[in-house]
Amino acid sequence: MKTRAFGTTGIEVSEIGLGSWQLGRSAHWPEGPDRDEAVRLVHAALDAGVTFIDTAPGYADGRSELNIGSALRDGRRDNVVICTKFGHRADGTTDWDAASIESSILRSAERMGTDHLDIVVLHSPPPEVLDGTRSEHYEVLERLKLKGLIRAYGASVDWGTDVDTVLRTSKSQALEVRMSALFQETWPSLERAHDHGVGTIIKVPLESGWLSGRYAADTVFAGVRSRWSRADIAVRASLVDEFRSLLPAGVSVPHGALRFLLAHTGVSTVIPGARTIELLSNSIAAAAEPLPVATVATIRDFYARRLAQAPLDW
Ligand SMILES: NC(=O)c1ccc[n+]([C@@H]2O[C@H](COP(=O)([O-])OP(=O)(O)OC[C@H]3O[C@@H](n4cnc5c(N)ncnc54)[C@H](OP(=O)(O)O)[C@@H]3O)[C@@H](O)[C@H]2O)c1
Repeated sequence: MKTRAFGTTGIEVSEIGLGSWQLGRSAHWPEGPDRDEAVRLVHAALDAGVTFIDTAPGYADGRSELNIGSALRDGRRDNVVICTKFGHRADGTTDWDAASIESSILRSAERMGTDHLDIVVLHSPPPEVLDGTRSEHYEVLERLKLKGLIRAYGASVDWGTDVDTVLRTSKSQALEVRMSALFQETWPSLERAHDHGVGTIIKVPLESGWLSGRYAADTVFAGVRSRWSRADIAVRASLVDEFRSLLPAGVSVPHGALRFLLAHTGVSTVIPGARTIELLSNSIAAAAEPLPVATVATIRDFYARRLAQAPLDW
């Protein structure tokens, strides 16, 4: 597994990281792993060279951080860069009070059995929190960084304008950004983040599983994915078919999707969500080879033609 610099922070991260939203069985993730399976999954990730884990207090109703803690208790903590978030709590409620940041981080650290966290991002915050000229959150995070509780901070966002707000109004060193072959709206903003020396984490890289290549127009979804209407599902199925046709022979849809993101020099790590060791291993294998430059250009063109005018909703 190759590593990349996380901006200019001095932190190194594996090209493929572990997305841990589904690292626990919960109402949102009825098919998520139980505790022992989650521990085995984290160990498999680390054994394969993954050195970056993305989680949040609310993931899998709080079980994600606990499961990561269980997996790291045997002395593996120092082998991994942990990113967690602030704003969405384990009980499903939100708390955006800047005065709660330190206690939230301490609780996350306790759940994961560690005395410090590497990266903390504001978890899809509302505009008045995201904008550092209107909030004190980044100043609080800067103080916690100076105190040694965290090594870097920033925000998790969905749109290029949000990336620019963070770059313009804070001294953030970390951005978690939505981007996939079917959602390239943020692609140019990643270049600007890179120029600012900011480390970037690419979330939802398989478009919530669509770029697994396993879903189709007649797939029925449960849990968190029941948000799509039949019309949404039909549109996504046809886009995935078109994406598949752009790939070189022998390259699977998920490998093409992950390699496409790794072709961006502004990307530090890509974090597909992994429910099973099999899916995780498959994602890790994607990083072994690059996508041809001409294919990257073709996928950029596909997005410009088919999606740029009306980007996919969440
Ligand atoms: N607001 C935020 O900050 C935010 C929001 C969303 C996500 N995230 C982070 O980003 C991570 C990734 O996002 P996500 O999990 O929502 O979406 P994703 O990575 O785009 O899709 C994950 C799904 O893709 C499928 N999959 C994963 N690896 C695969 C492989 N190698 N081959 C085929 N299928 C594969 C699995 O689907 P099945 O379950 O159907 O098998 C998995 O649940 C999360 O785990 C979380 O850490 C952050």
